[in-house]
Amino acid sequence: MSNAKFITLEGVDGAGKSTHIDFIKSYFTSKSLDYILTREPGGTNLGEKIREILLNDEMSPITESLLMFAARSEHISNLIRPNLSNGVTVISDRFTDASYAYQGGGKGISSSTISQLKILVQKDLEPDLTLLFDLPVEVSIERLNNTRVLDRFEKQDYEFHKRIREAYLNIANENKDRFHIIDSTKSISDIQNDITKILDIITK
Ligand code: TYD
Repeated sequence: MSNAKFITLEGVDGAGKSTHIDFIKSYFTSKSLDYILTREPGGTNLGEKIREILLNDEMSPITESLLMFAARSEHISNLIRPNLSNGVTVISDRFTDASYAYQGGGKGISSSTISQLKILVQKDLEPDLTLLFDLPVEVSIERLNNTRVLDRFEKQDYEFHKRIREAYLNIANENKDRFHIIDSTKSISDIQNDITKILDIITK
């Protein structure tokens, strides 16, 4: 049986997800494990075009949700499933939990609507492991303001970020079997130790 895993990375903006992705890549490379790193929205040619629209154009929350899932549908059929079938671990920088957090918690789309889209697009596919990079909202906003030019999602206000964080923590609580919450206020080396322990177990 293939040992390929589907791993997703989630978190509020500014929680350091990008920094830790490099470490996760080096973990898989050092163990000579076959993996690909991909991202949502995006991951395919069409998905990356949809990403450009999503990050730059104003639109209603339902349009935003539909485009997220349109990109996800391509991603699942053309990249995620084929790789898992070939024994290649897929690491995705965000997946459906982000739709519950941002379009659901953030923009007020009901979880039943998101669940319907999820069933349509995702069918029986579920991540084996989800790392949630968690950070108090005050800290994440401060980090974002200090670091880079913000995209449409990152420019939202304090309340929006707070709802996203709460939505993520709720989903994590409801799916304890696959979620690991990473306390992103810790030092980078402490976080790397935490990630190593979790990956050691899932890749065993
Ligand atoms: P991301 O690539 O994590 O941005 P960055 O690398 O700049 O942190 O994600 C892009 C944005 O898309 C992010 O703000 C969250 C948002 N997003 C949703 O709103 N819903 C979704 O389903 C996904 C996958 C992402």
